[in-house]
Amino acid sequence: MMISTLPPLGSVLLHLAFFLQPASSDYTSTNSSNLHDGLQNCGCYVVDTGADSKSPEYFQFHRFFDFRNLAGGPGQYVQAPPLVNDTQDAGDEPLWTPNVLGSDAWSADWGIQNWGKNATEEFPVKMVNSPANVYIQQNDDEKNAFSWLTLRTTRLDEFQSAAEIESLQKNLNHVSMRMKARVVGAKGAVAGFFTFFDDDNESDIEILTDDAKDVIRYTNQPALDGDGNEVAEASISANKLPAWDDWQTHRIDWLPKNSYWYLNDKQVATNTYSVPRTPSFLVMNMWSDGGEWSGNMSVGDSAEFQIQWIELLFNTSGPVEGPPQPNDVKKRSMDLLEKREEKGCEIVCKVDGVKAVGTPEIVGLASGLSVSWALLVAVGMVSTFVSL
Ligand SMILES: *[C@@H]1O[C@H](CO)[C@@H](O)[C@H](O)[C@H]1NC(C)=O
Ligand SMILES: *[C@@H]1O[C@H](CO)[C@@H](O)[C@H](O)[C@H]1NC(C)=O
Ligand SMILES: *[C@@H]1O[C@H](CO)[C@@H](O)[C@H](O)[C@H]1NC(C)=O
Ligand SMILES: *[C@@H]1O[C@H](CO)[C@@H](O)[C@H](O)[C@H]1NC(C)=O
Ligand SMILES: *[C@@H]1O[C@H](CO)[C@@H](O)[C@H](O)[C@H]1NC(C)=O
Ligand SMILES: *[C@@H]1O[C@H](CO)[C@@H](O)[C@H](O)[C@H]1NC(C)=O
Repeated sequence: MMISTLPPLGSVLLHLAFFLQPASSDYTSTNSSNLHDGLQNCGCYVVDTGADSKSPEYFQFHRFFDFRNLAGGPGQYVQAPPLVNDTQDAGDEPLWTPNVLGSDAWSADWGIQNWGKNATEEFPVKMVNSPANVYIQQNDDEKNAFSWLTLRTTRLDEFQSAAEIESLQKNLNHVSMRMKARVVGAKGAVAGFFTFFDDDNESDIEILTDDAKDVIRYTNQPALDGDGNEVAEASISANKLPAWDDWQTHRIDWLPKNSYWYLNDKQVATNTYSVPRTPSFLVMNMWSDGGEWSGNMSVGDSAEFQIQWIELLFNTSGPVEGPPQPNDVKKRSMDLLEKREEKGCEIVCKVDGVKAVGTPEIVGLASGLSVSWALLVAVGMVSTFVSL
């Protein structure tokens, strides 16, 4: 065992990145596993969850998508771009902030959607997702000029212009995912933060702007049965919550048999109905279609879903692009599972109750590691580089 007093390279790189930040307006995301092999300390991440919010669950991967430092200085993104107008119904409208949302770094993580759907009897307003509804915005306060990602939806005469982004990592298999977000604007919109594979494997947080500001919907799909009737146990409408038009931390824990939802670290809903079973991806959207769920937005109105950061703890199963053909699923998942078990988790980290959100901290060591390691950690010398 070799001990040196140098801080880990990963930590040096992160600090460099931090100090360089004010001059740059690039999108970057932290993939702690990038730094895993000997450079980053965390082998896995523990989350307190369960019915009692005290049962530890472990995840292999951690990612932090931070939209707070994207402006080069105060004032850059204070002005929201103009609303999409009646002529812009093709879904091919250009991005307002291509330097960020068209960058290679962004495009490696996220897909900005441009699909649409026609009006039907049940959903009477045509809807088109447009890249022009996804942009960076900034706080109008020089001393606190943080930025965020906005998804906007606007009602035009003939259609609803909407916004959606999807993670390109489509093999999430159990997650604890969080976002700091708020929803502002007109009634008749839905802000969604959810895992998705198909209409029967989907776990949602939805904020309906038609609802009171202390109400949030927590749903495992399908919420309708084969005859189109509501499934009572699918959706929980929680109330007396902190207002969703203020910044709050929202969280879904998707576990093998249970779904738990949190708001600012407090458990607000649980469900065992239709807990997703298929590797999924993360979706965020802001939309309306005139149906019973979203309601109607008035022509000319708009509403915004604003996100400061997203934190994702997850395991994976199968290839990154999502489940392959049904016959292959089982075999591939087994392969990966075996590889993971060989590696194990030596150093356990946490993401809750840390000094800086998004930066995991070591909580403990699994058995099998030497005492000197444990002592080093105990006396707070966690930045000492130890190679085993
Ligand atoms: C994180 O980085 C590692 C190493 O580069 C890579 O294998 C893995 O796919 C990345 N994970 C994510 C979620 O991007
Ligand atoms: C994630 O994977 C690890 C390693 O296979 C496993 O020990 C852990 O229980 C998994 N966590 C969840 C929530 O499925
Ligand atoms: C719609 O918006 C686009 C882009 O801002 C603009 O070029 C166009 O002139 C607008 N059309 C109308 C009818 O306002
Ligand atoms: C909507 O309807 C039009 C005309 O009937 C059709 O050309 C178009 O493909 C449809 N769009 C979608 C998304 O289904
Ligand atoms: C998830 O998808 C699989 C495969 O399509 C399906 O069999 C299952 O019913 C879906 N829902 C749940 C909750 O497993
Ligand atoms: C939305 O408006 C349309 C008429 O434009 C109406 O048919 C539909 O029922 C309304 N939806 C709701 C949920 O009230």
